[in-house]
Parts: sequence; C-alpha cells; structure tokens
Amino acid sequence: MGFSLRRTKFHARESSKTRDSPPGYESQRSCDMEVSGEEFCEQKIRMTGTKNVAGKMQEVWIIMEKKLSREDAWSLLTDYTKTPSLITHALTVEAVMRHFARQNGEDEDVWGVTGLLHDLDYEKFPEEHCQKAAEIMKEHGIDEIYIRGMMCHGYGLCTDTEPKSRMEKTLYTIDELTGLIHAVCLMRPSKSVLDLEVKSVKKKFKDKSFAAGVNRDVVRNGCEMLQMELDDVIRETIEGMKEKAEEIGLKGNL
Ligand SMILES: [Fe+2]
Repeated sequence: MGFSLRRTKFHARESSKTRDSPPGYESQRSCDMEVSGEEFCEQKIRMTGTKNVAGKMQEVWIIMEKKLSREDAWSLLTDYTKTPSLITHALTVEAVMRHFARQNGEDEDVWGVTGLLHDLDYEKFPEEHCQKAAEIMKEHGIDEIYIRGMMCHGYGLCTDTEPKSRMEKTLYTIDELTGLIHAVCLMRPSKSVLDLEVKSVKKKFKDKSFAAGVNRDVVRNGCEMLQMELDDVIRETIEGMKEKAEEIGLKGNL
C-alpha cells in the first residue's frame, strides 16, 4: 500500500468543561511531546471522569493522540478511493472541519484529517460502511481519536457510536450538509460557493424533494448537539467550503 506511520509526535490535551457552564464554554491546555512508538503504547492515556471543582462537577478527560499527518492520511484515502466525486467530498469535509476547528480553537490537523478519512471505505465496501473503515484504520495503527470521529459520522445510520466531542459532533453535522450545499451551488448561475448565501441553502433545506438523499434530520440533530442554530452552521459550512472553492470544483465562473 505504500503507507506507513512515520510520525512519532503526540499531542496531549487536557480539557475540562463544567456541566452547567454556558454553551460553548471549554477550557483547554495543550502541549506537544516527542516520544517513541513503544513509549506511546505505555504512555497512552485515555481517561474520563468527573471531579468536584469549587462545588461544581466538571467532566475531565485526558487524551493522548498519535497525530496522523495529512500526507499519510491522503495516501491512505487515495489507496482506497479513486472516484473523483468521493475525493471531492472528502476534501470538502476536510476543509469544513478545518474551518470549524479554527473557530473552536482546536487542532485543525486532527479535525481535518478525520474529515478527510471519514468515508475511507465507502467506495470499496459500501455494505460495511464505517465498520470496514475502522478495521482498516486499526490495521494501520491509527489513533482511536480518528476512528471514533469516523464512526460517529454514521451514528444512528450504520454505527451506534454517539458523537461526544466537539469534533465528533461537528463531523456528524456537516457531512450531509456539505452534500446539500454542493448540490445548491451546481444549480446556481455562477455554479459557485463564493457568492452563496445562507438563505438559498435554507430554502433548499426545507424543500425535501431537492437533494432528497440528504438526511435533514441528521443535520438538525447535529445542530442540537452543537447547540448552534441551523443558520449559523450553514454559514460556517459555506465559509469552510469557500476556502477550498477551487479544489472542490465550486469556484464556478467567479
Ligand atoms: Fe461523507
């Protein structure tokens, strides 16, 4: 396959979120460290729990990620995916995930790579979608954070892995939405995302016969998980797509 994990850089993150804190509140400290593969196995920490801080229960989790480079992720994706529309979709979801990561002050590469790989198995194993991708990713020693993110995008459809982190909820929400926005762009005179307005997408979102394959319930459910209004999610998804308009074929004639 010509694919190997060459990176030995891990990212440790400690996050805490107060249960009754306002939506979107989250504090994080981050540090990067270099350790060898063997050390990684011993040092990998994945803890969830709660602690009482100044009378308030806080969720606490510490995750150590083995970061997957964009280059390795691309190599894996293109080993399994040749269909241009699926590659375009992967690039679109990556671009939007990167945009949302920046908005959330999160790791853009982790979010982007998860987006890039989310439909890894779809061309070759449509009947085993998500399950097969998890298998392939595990075989390649890819960190659980990417596998969980991928699994969560099929929540309620082909997996029962419920989105928990902001990254997982975002991928779950925007995957279907990017498909709708793509379809809206192609029917516009400009064939472009660059001058697309939220209201045009909203109109087509409500029209169930348009791009009927796009599951509106998933998008609505995702907005609830993110505690964001649909309009805001649409706006930010458009912004993310604009950043890579040319690569995803949506520059149109502008
Ligand atoms: Fe997808």
